[in-house]
Amino acid sequence: MLILKKILKSIKSDIKKSNTIENLEVIRLKYLGKKGIINAFFKKIKNFSLKQKKEYSYVINNIKLETVEKINQKKIQLNTILFDQKIKKENIDVSLPGRRIRNGSRHPIATTINYIQDFFLKIGFQIVKGPEIEDEYHNFDALNISKTHPSRDSHDTFWFDSNKLLRTQTSSMQIRVMEKEKPPIRFIVPGKVYRNDCDSTHTPMFHQIEGLIVDTKVNFSNLKWIIYNFLYNFFGKYVSIKFRPSYFPFTVPSAEVDISINNRDSLEILGCGMVHPQVLKNVNIDSHMYSACAFGIGVERMAMLRYGIADIRYFFENDLRFLSQFKYK
Ligand code: DAH
Repeated sequence: MLILKKILKSIKSDIKKSNTIENLEVIRLKYLGKKGIINAFFKKIKNFSLKQKKEYSYVINNIKLETVEKINQKKIQLNTILFDQKIKKENIDVSLPGRRIRNGSRHPIATTINYIQDFFLKIGFQIVKGPEIEDEYHNFDALNISKTHPSRDSHDTFWFDSNKLLRTQTSSMQIRVMEKEKPPIRFIVPGKVYRNDCDSTHTPMFHQIEGLIVDTKVNFSNLKWIIYNFLYNFFGKYVSIKFRPSYFPFTVPSAEVDISINNRDSLEILGCGMVHPQVLKNVNIDSHMYSACAFGIGVERMAMLRYGIADIRYFFENDLRFLSQFKYK
């Protein structure tokens, strides 16, 4: 019996001393393995008397159970230490918040253009695109804007050379389309235009949507009908719309439209008119047979009114705090 007590003591101290999983396994085999010390004892007591057998086997069994338990406990302890060391080495800070993947949102100008396109598509317009690098003829001359006309200066044009320029208006596309197509014509051109101008309502690049209808009996009331319906559709029926007589060399009569929402300051958002007979002549369309009306919408102005934005420059600063307010639509 004494020897068994000694063994139990050495088992305990061996387990306590073992400091790796491998080492612990060696100890497990030493005591619990087939050829281990505990099994050797079981074998020894075979020859004992029945009474002694009972006594000894009870004690040995308890030692065995205790050993198993102690080894398992130690194993858990060693694994925990190992895990802690591993985590320290890999330097994972599990308390660090995850990296959020933010959904993008569509730019308010793109949303505005899409919305306007949808309206005009529904009432039978086609969508056409054109070059941003234009020539003097399409941007000015063919639109009846003579070389000496002051409106040329007011456009603050970016010139490449004496002929090529960044288009200052999408109206140049009226010419390009009428040169190619035969009436009836009904299209819009969304696109970028450029003028050397910058303040809270002007940026050097901005967007316009040009519209043109050429047909046999187009008149000013057709134009007004379209503009009114378009603006009511875009802003809702409580918008106040003001048609103001104006002047553009390529339309006669000409008008500008001012919009005010909730009695706030009005903003000019488009120009329009009946296409000048000289412009039709420039593209070989008989102005006795056909008439045409046109309009040019300022997209940024529309978006500013719709979203209540005070400064046009916000659109192009690419500040995510601004852009992420516009949900993907
Ligand atoms: N192109 C003009 C501008 O940029 C706007 C405009 C006025 C377009 C009258 C038109 C129009 O089609 O008929 O200021």
